[in-house]
Amino acid sequence: MGRRHLDVLARDQRVRIVGVADTVEATAQSTAQAFGARPCRTLSELADLKPDAVYVTLPNRYHGAVVLEALDRGLHVFSEKPMATTLEEARRVAARVRLSGRVYQMGFNRRFAPAYRFLRGEIAAGFIPYSAHAKITDGDMLTPSWYIDPALTGGFLYDCAVHMIDLVGWLVGPIRQVAARGRRSCYPDEDDIVLMLWCEGDRPAALTTCGHASWAKPTERVELFGDHALLVSEDMDRARHATREAPEPAWRQFASPDDVTAQGYVDEDRAFIDACLGEAPPPVTVDDAFASIAAIDAAYISLRGGGRPESVLQE
Ligand SMILES: NC(=O)c1ccc[n+]([C@@H]2O[C@H](COP(=O)([O-])OP(=O)(O)OC[C@H]3O[C@@H](n4cnc5c(N)ncnc54)[C@H](O)[C@@H]3O)[C@@H](O)[C@H]2O)c1
Repeated sequence: MGRRHLDVLARDQRVRIVGVADTVEATAQSTAQAFGARPCRTLSELADLKPDAVYVTLPNRYHGAVVLEALDRGLHVFSEKPMATTLEEARRVAARVRLSGRVYQMGFNRRFAPAYRFLRGEIAAGFIPYSAHAKITDGDMLTPSWYIDPALTGGFLYDCAVHMIDLVGWLVGPIRQVAARGRRSCYPDEDDIVLMLWCEGDRPAALTTCGHASWAKPTERVELFGDHALLVSEDMDRARHATREAPEPAWRQFASPDDVTAQGYVDEDRAFIDACLGEAPPPVTVDDAFASIAAIDAAYISLRGGGRPESVLQE
C-alpha cells in the first residue's frame, strides 16, 4: 500500500516525496530510490527530513503507535485502515488528533470509488435505504502472510470488513448495535463471519465476510432496499438503480483510466493533500475512523459471546 500511495502521490505536482521508512532496509532503499527520496529506518529519521505529512502503511497492529508519534512530531497523518486494533488505542488516537490541530485522514478509499459514489449520490438525491445486504470477501489471506495472524491484523474484521462496515455506516446510517457469529474455516482466525448491524433510524443491515472465497468477482456487493426500489453495486465500478417501474435497468459500468483511480486512491490522496494545504477539511474524519473500530469491537464481543447483540460505543 505504501508503494501504491507513492505511485499516486508522485503524480501530484504539489507533493515532494522526501523519505521512505521501512524496517526492511532493502525495501526502504529500493522504494526510496524509485521516488528520488531518502531511505530511513524509523519515523524519527523520517521526521528529521522535515516533511509536512506522513502516510502510515504498516501492518495494522503498528498503526496506532506510529500515528501517535507522528502527531506528537507535528505531522499531518494519512493512516491506512484500520485506525487501531483495539478500542483503547483508537480512543487515544482520536483524543490526540482532536488536540493536535493536525490533519488526520483514514484510508477508506472505497468512499471515493465510482460505484460507491453513485450509491451515495442517489441517496443524496432522495433514495432512502431502509435496510441493506452486503458482502466483502478475500480470495485468500496469504498475501502478505501476516494477514492470517490476528496479533498483527487485530482480527479478520479489522482487515477486510472494516471497509464495508464504514460503507454501511456511510450509506445506511451510523451503526448503533451489532451481533456477530463466525467460525475458523481455513485459517487460524475467524475467516467466515456474518454480522447483523442496526443502523440509526432502526435500519437493519446484514453483512457477510469471508477470507477464502476465491477471487471470483464480485468480491464485494451492496444492496440497499428502498421504497419498492433497489440500489446495488458490484465491486467498485458497477452499479444500478432499479425501481418498481423499471426493475431491470442496465448496469452502469464506470470507466476509469487505471486501477488506482477505479479503486478511489487517486481522489482520496488528492483530498488528503488538499486538507494538508488547508484547502478543505479531510473528507474521511477521525470520527469516521473511530466509528468503524467501535463497531468491530462490539462485533468481536458479540462473536465471543455467542452472537448476542452489543451496543456500539460512541466514544
Ligand atoms: N485501503 C486498502 O484498500 C488496503 C489494501 C491493502 C492493504 N491495506 C492496509 O495497508 C497496510 C499495509 O498493508 P500491505 O498489504 O501493504 O502490507 P505489506 O506487508 O505489503 O507492507 C507493509 C510494510 O511495512 C513494513 N514494516 C513492517 N513493520 C514495520 C515497522 N514496525 N516499521 C516500519 N516498517 C514496517 C514491512 O517491511 C512492509 O514493507 C495495512 O494496514 C493494510 O490493512 C489497505
